[in-house]
Amino acid sequence: MKFKSQAVTEDLSTLTSDCLILPAYKGKRVSKNVSALDKSLGGILAAAQKRGDFAGKFKQLQILPLHGTGKIQRILLLGCGPADEFDAQKYRTLLTLLAKNLSSKPFKSVHILFADLLVKDFSADLQAQQVSQAFVDQSYRYTRTRSEKVSPRKLASVSLLVNDSRGVSQALKRGQAIGHGINASKELGNLPGNICTPSYLAKQATELARQKTNVATKVLNEKQMLELGMGSLLSVSAGSVEPAKFIIMDYKGGPKTQQPVVLVGKGITFDSGGISIKGGAAMDEMKFDMCGAATVFGVMEAVLQLQLPINLIGVVASAENMPSGTATKPGDVVTSMAGKTIEVLNTDAEGRLVLCDALTYVERYKPKAVIDIATLTGACVIALGKHASGLFSNNDALADALLAAGSSTGDRAWRMPIWKEYQEQLKSNFADVANIGGPGGGSILAACFLSRFTEAYPWAHLDIAGTAWLNGADKGSTGRPVALLMQYLFEHANQ
Ligand code: BES
Ligand code: MN
Ligand code: ZN
Repeated sequence: MKFKSQAVTEDLSTLTSDCLILPAYKGKRVSKNVSALDKSLGGILAAAQKRGDFAGKFKQLQILPLHGTGKIQRILLLGCGPADEFDAQKYRTLLTLLAKNLSSKPFKSVHILFADLLVKDFSADLQAQQVSQAFVDQSYRYTRTRSEKVSPRKLASVSLLVNDSRGVSQALKRGQAIGHGINASKELGNLPGNICTPSYLAKQATELARQKTNVATKVLNEKQMLELGMGSLLSVSAGSVEPAKFIIMDYKGGPKTQQPVVLVGKGITFDSGGISIKGGAAMDEMKFDMCGAATVFGVMEAVLQLQLPINLIGVVASAENMPSGTATKPGDVVTSMAGKTIEVLNTDAEGRLVLCDALTYVERYKPKAVIDIATLTGACVIALGKHASGLFSNNDALADALLAAGSSTGDRAWRMPIWKEYQEQLKSNFADVANIGGPGGGSILAACFLSRFTEAYPWAHLDIAGTAWLNGADKGSTGRPVALLMQYLFEHANQ
């Protein structure tokens, strides 16, 4: 798909387009450009409004075929609701709706009167970025394990009609890369656990490194992890026939001396709970327990595509959590790479066990910041639902930067506390720390557990248990929080 921008011409009727998208606000007269166009069309827009066919209600879409000899084939009226209520959140909702609607239409080229869609107090660049992101995101279809033929997408070109074209083309490129990263992440997330194993993820990382010369991949096997003392991570894969993999993708786009940002993804390719086995209901969804890892892959893809001038290290701690005669048992004590002993009171709290060793491993990079991304706790879904990822951090500046990136992209996060008072709930009589603690504050306790391994650097943890996938009829991976992290990295690159 190609994205372009061009200046709004006084006479829109000279455009050649399969579909011209015109924003319309409730109770507001159309803009100068539109009324000129309407005149040349014999007043059909004004008539539609007058008859009450199209009132500009929020999310109302109306296609008007033009049967004349003009070069515009159709007009799509996009209902924006009352102008004074139009905001960034509504804007993104409309973009998604529009992109979804157009993805099933036979139109090859569409034009959007972007100049009439600008939101007050919101950067036009970000708005343009979100157009290409939404169109690429909505073009995704899962096909890998389905026989049904999927017809190829027709839409090949999206043009924005703008008043001011400065910055727009870079913004469109950024959005396109984010969309690409989101789709790469969705694909990995959606793949079933019998295909997407730790070894499969390792292979993806090796292939990624072949794309460009400034990225290198290293994969550690279980023997190498044992030598490093990763007893906590290895206790999770102990019950599975699939060997654990520790994946490192090292991207060098910035000056040698620039400290890297490190992303650490939870890559449990299936979480049965282990000996503390889960119930059967919706257990299939535990194939999504590698969505943190999928996020890391998605961000790496997008950063590579844009060749951002930063140093970025993507780490994936991957294992399958299964019960068997060799599995870790409740009550077992394991020793982490940091030397801390951990009493595994519940083998279903396995995410923190793989992450703690990864968080110790990455100290060697002297990172500027470490951000881990994990479908860590059901408690986070209870607390925040599907709209916000849980954010936990030992550094206010880092937390604020991530919150800002989330709100400007609509991929929102909400900060939660990790006060030391909570730490007491993780006491063990038999080890330095227990892997669960009660009662209450489940997502906070998981973050508190991780915080014991992150004292050497600014750190943030994103609990994406609620945001990484949808269930029900729309079951599937969302590609969140690729957009949040990309926006954070754009800001980081500007510093
Ligand atoms: N992968 C799950 C968390 C999860 C559960 C994500 C449901 C999304 C939906 C994680 O490994 C887990 O099982 N956590 C336990 C922790 C508990 C044993 C302390 C949980 O949340 O129930
Ligand atoms: Mn679990
Ligand atoms: Zn899990």
